[in-house]
Amino acid sequence: MTKRILLTGASGGIGRAIAVRLANDGHRLTLVGRDADRLDALLSMLSGSHESLIQDLAAADAGVRIVDALGDVTPDILINCAGIQSLQRFDASDWALVERLMRINLLTPMALIHALLPRLKAGSHIINIGSVLGEIGYPGYVAYGASKGGLMRFSEALRRELQDTGIRVSWLAPRATDTALNSPEANDLNRALGNRVDDPSVVAEAVAELIASPKSSRVLGFPEALFTRINALLPRVVDGAISKQLDTIKAHLEEKS
Ligand SMILES: NC(=O)c1ccc[n+]([C@@H]2O[C@H](COP(=O)([O-])OP(=O)(O)OC[C@H]3O[C@@H](n4cnc5c(N)ncnc54)[C@H](OP(=O)(O)O)[C@@H]3O)[C@@H](O)[C@H]2O)c1
Repeated sequence: MTKRILLTGASGGIGRAIAVRLANDGHRLTLVGRDADRLDALLSMLSGSHESLIQDLAAADAGVRIVDALGDVTPDILINCAGIQSLQRFDASDWALVERLMRINLLTPMALIHALLPRLKAGSHIINIGSVLGEIGYPGYVAYGASKGGLMRFSEALRRELQDTGIRVSWLAPRATDTALNSPEANDLNRALGNRVDDPSVVAEAVAELIASPKSSRVLGFPEALFTRINALLPRVVDGAISKQLDTIKAHLEEKS
């Protein structure tokens, strides 16, 4: 059945793959982004009829603005995919960047859901795109991990709060994925640590599977999914494993703020 889908971060590597996948499944998309040209280019290659909505998600009122701009249209599915990342020593991070991370990765998704919820009916579905780095606290990704970890707990609590409403809340945590989100330093670090990097289509497929199944959360990739479980049960084991990587991680941190 065709669903109305609101997708943030549609112009990015993962968002674009999600848009292509869900358009091919026959759904109707509203693509949210900042860059009208990039969204138009994406719209022109999608099968079916879709719209774009221009909004900077760093704006304090972004959530309310998006819901206002939707007019009479209420999405069946909201996918919060937009995000930014930084790989830095926390004490060297520019505070404005830390606030921006929290705004775009956590506060705006929460604000958008807060503004949209009164309109959502049973059967609606909210999907928050998180990260393995929100499940496992990792050196260099302290602020990013805080934003994604916050989004994970928010998703869990809201899912439980809404379980008698028929509104689903899902959390999807990709591992490293081949997109422009990762800086050259982050790509070098992934290579140095032997981290596997997924194609964005892997995340898009997982989104399609979440929509079709009753699952509420998923971590992508092995051994990452296993490590998230060990981290939850035996964090000191993970402390020990990460301490062996610390010199390598610190050698790859971005110097700019
Ligand atoms: N790539 C990975 O390794 C990886 C791993 C795990 C999780 N994730 C998560 O997956 C999601 C998508 O990331 P990606 O890899 O596709 O990154 P990406 O290619 O850099 O795309 C990021 C998207 O977020 C949007 N965005 C950023 N700042 C924005 C703002 N102020 N206002 C509106 N939109 C904004 C970008 O729009 P513009 O085009 O306007 O900049 C873009 O569409 C993110 O939440 C990320 O944390 C990624």
